[in-house]
Amino acid sequence: MARITASVFTSHVPAIGAAMDLGKTHEPYWQPLFAGYEPSKQWLKDNKPDVVFLVYNDHATAFSLELIPTFAIGCAAEFNPADEGWGPRPVPKVIGHPELAAHITQSVIQDDFDLTIVNKMDVDHGLTVPLSLMCGQPQEWPFKVIPFAVNVVQYPVPSGRRCFQIGQAIRKAVESFDEDLNVQIWGTGGMSHQLQGARAGLINREWDNAWLDKMIADPKACADTPHIDYVREAGSEGIELVMWLIARGAMADVNGGPAPTVKHRFYHVPASNTAVGHLILENNA
Ligand code: DHB
Ligand code: FE
Repeated sequence: MARITASVFTSHVPAIGAAMDLGKTHEPYWQPLFAGYEPSKQWLKDNKPDVVFLVYNDHATAFSLELIPTFAIGCAAEFNPADEGWGPRPVPKVIGHPELAAHITQSVIQDDFDLTIVNKMDVDHGLTVPLSLMCGQPQEWPFKVIPFAVNVVQYPVPSGRRCFQIGQAIRKAVESFDEDLNVQIWGTGGMSHQLQGARAGLINREWDNAWLDKMIADPKACADTPHIDYVREAGSEGIELVMWLIARGAMADVNGGPAPTVKHRFYHVPASNTAVGHLILENNA
């Protein structure tokens, strides 16, 4: 049986990828940020998954305004890093797991969540920056990845509650896959940031840290947060945090099991225009 062993939560700022690709990680601006991910890289080496179910958002890269799926699952055998205007990032291509992706698609759609099936898709910084932060700069990514793209770019976006419920359905789907696989689920994006308009540059440390507390101990309170609260408190792009709720909904404690163990917690401002938040939760069932 496949099992979800842990969840990882992290921001995905494109400038973080550029800092790595251009060899700037030791510069004073970046050093404290990357130091916060050193324990995570070691943890991932010690807890190497077979597959990561990676919840992220596409930033009008693979999907333009012509076609906007709310929840899209990557079922392809591989996914190339996208060209976001400066050429593709010099990172390995992403190897998928079509069999597990197809199984999850079947199970989750039969559980009444209408996913869009994607058989060809390039993946942008939303997916590759979390991989870089957690894995460094390997020749090949050390596990397979199922990309799961959520629309948080064009309104209307899905509610946090819906995201949480879909996470619960994903857990059920993974646990009904016959092969013994160690699966992690990653929720990415956030924390507070606003990239445009009168409040551009908004950061809300207090709200972000209260959110991290609740993500650990009271995730249902996060799931019940209305979307307007994210926009008001965490800025227009703070809405990316609903994606964390998919990963949190797939953890044992919110599906009748024991509480997770917090393996790492980190918060850092600034990284470009964004507050970087990061959690690793390990399942105890
Ligand atoms: C930034 C953050 C994002 O989440 C994003 O998608 C693009 C840019 C930033 O802080 O620069
Ligand atoms: Fe983003």
